[in-house]
Amino acid sequence: MTAEVIYGNVLAESMRNEMKEEVDKLKENGIVPGLTVILIGSDPASQSYVKGKQKASDKVGIHSDLIELPSDTTEQALLDLIHQLNNDEKVHGILVQLPLPKHIREQVVIETIDPSKDVDGFHPINIGRMIAGKDTFFPCTPYGIIQMLKSKNIEIEGKNAVVVGRSNIVGKPVGQLLLNENATVTYCHSRTKNMQAYTKSADILIVAVGRAHFLSGDDIKEGSVVIDVGVNRLETGKLTGDVDFESAKEKAAYITPVPKGVGPMTITMLLHNTIKSAKKYYN
Ligand code: GUN
Repeated sequence: MTAEVIYGNVLAESMRNEMKEEVDKLKENGIVPGLTVILIGSDPASQSYVKGKQKASDKVGIHSDLIELPSDTTEQALLDLIHQLNNDEKVHGILVQLPLPKHIREQVVIETIDPSKDVDGFHPINIGRMIAGKDTFFPCTPYGIIQMLKSKNIEIEGKNAVVVGRSNIVGKPVGQLLLNENATVTYCHSRTKNMQAYTKSADILIVAVGRAHFLSGDDIKEGSVVIDVGVNRLETGKLTGDVDFESAKEKAAYITPVPKGVGPMTITMLLHNTIKSAKKYYN
């Protein structure tokens, strides 16, 4: 079998076109969706992600502000800034780019963001609502993955979904969203024994470990759906996923590429959450 490739950039483009129309309507009613991104330090990967988020916001008409702070910014200064943004009614979404410098406690920062402006969906209140099966701001990468599956009418209910990786940003929440869609979910991680037994049983396989070509065609089930969340830069400078695309493509029914796969959907769902916030979803 040769897989159908699910291009996230194509789905992202069509969703963003619809969002632009929605934003235009909000603007007619005097509401300009606003996103503020805080970037601490000068990590090149973070800078590039943040630029991508800003560019995409501008394109759909969301007003975006980038606040760049030096890497020696104190935790208290960051918390003060977040409080100020929490109280600014023009700001509908607050995103603090992770990772943070070691002297700043990530969880304290996340919990300081007003849950009603937590467009990353990282606040414990929003995570709790997600686990309870309620509507809320869902974390962007997991939410984008669900949209990709739905765009191809891929059935989730009753399927064996295996998630490789258990990060707070991707692995844990994507498993939860798949569970909410009635999949049977298994998590694999660095301590999992005989991982291949699990990955080969997966109807839907989500790979988010951050290691180039961690899995290949030998590790997957014939006819499965393979979602590759990895973004790894090879020594040649080329970007590649956690899955060896060429071998996996020959066995899977559907597969996502890297680049042009999950990445563009992450940003798209951030825009979605920002618009949702501007529509006063929490009131
Ligand atoms: N760093 C890598 N991915 C993300 C994300 O989705 N949100 C934030 N805030 N930081 C990140």
